[in-house]
Amino acid sequence: MSIFLGIDIGTSGTKTLAIDQRGKILADAMETYPCYVPKPLWSEQDPDDWWQATVRSVRKVMADARIKPAEVKSIGLSGQMHGAVFLDKNDKVVRRAILWNDQRTAAECDEIERLAGGRKKLIRRVANPALTGFTAPKILWLRNNEPRNFERTRKVLLPKDEIRRRLTGQYATDVSDASGTLLLDVKKRKWSKKLLSALELDIDMFAECYESEDITGTLTPASARLLGLSAGCVVVGGAGDCAAGAVGNGIVSGGILSTSIGTSGVMFVHCDDVKIDPEGRVHTFCHAVRGKWHMMGVNLSAGGSLQWFKNELCKADAAKAKRTKKEIYDILTAEAEKAPTGSEGLFFLPYLSGERTPHADPDARGCFVGLTLAHTRGHMIRAIMEGVTYSMRDSLAIFDSLGVPVRQIRSSGGGSRSALWRQIQADVFGRKVVTINTEEGPAYGAALLAAVGAGAFKNVREACKATIKVVQETSVNRAAKRYHDRAFPIYRQLYRSLKDDFKSIAAL
Ligand code: XUL
Repeated sequence: MSIFLGIDIGTSGTKTLAIDQRGKILADAMETYPCYVPKPLWSEQDPDDWWQATVRSVRKVMADARIKPAEVKSIGLSGQMHGAVFLDKNDKVVRRAILWNDQRTAAECDEIERLAGGRKKLIRRVANPALTGFTAPKILWLRNNEPRNFERTRKVLLPKDEIRRRLTGQYATDVSDASGTLLLDVKKRKWSKKLLSALELDIDMFAECYESEDITGTLTPASARLLGLSAGCVVVGGAGDCAAGAVGNGIVSGGILSTSIGTSGVMFVHCDDVKIDPEGRVHTFCHAVRGKWHMMGVNLSAGGSLQWFKNELCKADAAKAKRTKKEIYDILTAEAEKAPTGSEGLFFLPYLSGERTPHADPDARGCFVGLTLAHTRGHMIRAIMEGVTYSMRDSLAIFDSLGVPVRQIRSSGGGSRSALWRQIQADVFGRKVVTINTEEGPAYGAALLAAVGAGAFKNVREACKATIKVVQETSVNRAAKRYHDRAFPIYRQLYRSLKDDFKSIAAL
């Protein structure tokens, strides 16, 4: 039998999944690790944690599904995008990796715009503006703030590509993930020599760019031994978690939009041609489908907002859920269900890590607005779900204004598992929301890319057609939609009203 592995280096953990040549999932395993917040709005992880989690989750999948090493023909990698792993001349990690949701680089974003000859020129060159989460500003931050670490740095890799290096010994990346560095000429699908030279960055610092299904190397004998795989196993380019998740959701042709609520919230549409938002509010990146692109809006704290609430305000419930073997999110959702649509006037702004789409504001802060003595914890949970969904509607409104067609909305990620959150999405977006037969998102997409690379399917579209089906639909509740249509402009106005106060708070 031929088996393919998808490995997703996420923010909360690494997920490995094995599929057969028809795309059937044989086993999956998740291994978690911490995220460090050394200062407010900073976010870092230790690449060694990713590697240990990769080794453990691969070994677990192999054991659970009783897979023989020689059966695994290829591996696809997916991972949190934009993170910077700095390596010295001996491939030792110079400092902890700086992640996608880290907001320390506002000054470097201004510096990049200036060096690139202005925001408009930058967007023309690399399809996107400089955003604090992207990789290039992190590299400049290191040069400006930790010059000794910068001098020691020979290579800068994205999170999944650091795992690839440990698997194969190769410095390689794929075009979808490379798009999020801000250093890729997204139209031409290769590094932008012009921007690199304007920023005085050496092209040799970066990995070689491949399409997502292309083979980038084979396992080294040492990594094959450690993972319990055979040394002939190849590793394909893979994709950033958004593009890999889109493949795993079948978003490989126009008209279908995926909403994914994980730590971040992602609204993702496929594009046959490069389409760029001249205002730079949504991103244009290369897709994991050869020669295609995608647009997306990203909210930095989507599921992450609910996770924060659970961690900080529901400790006793979480402990009880663990004792009684219940799922804590099911308990919280049941509480939220008791509150009516609109949470009786309670709004939540999900800017706990600042925000990216549509505000690109590292100083934005999370808040509840409209609390009264009548509000319960259930109202607060519901308001979080509604506020996160409003933040995603902001992206939908931008796609609509750019004329990007959206005929179907597919919900995925942790948020799609909750019937309540699916209903909130249908009502806030005012469109039917569907779910598909797999919930595995990026790890599944990465496994499909591995299968395509090994020749099990003709191409990515064929792989999705053969494996992904719509299984469930949530229709719009007209009364709830009418309510949200009235509440959404108020939600939007709240950011505008508070924007200057957020700045003052950040400057305190
Ligand atoms: C995408 C982004 C996030 C991370 C999360 O631009 O920043 O979705 O990839 O893993």
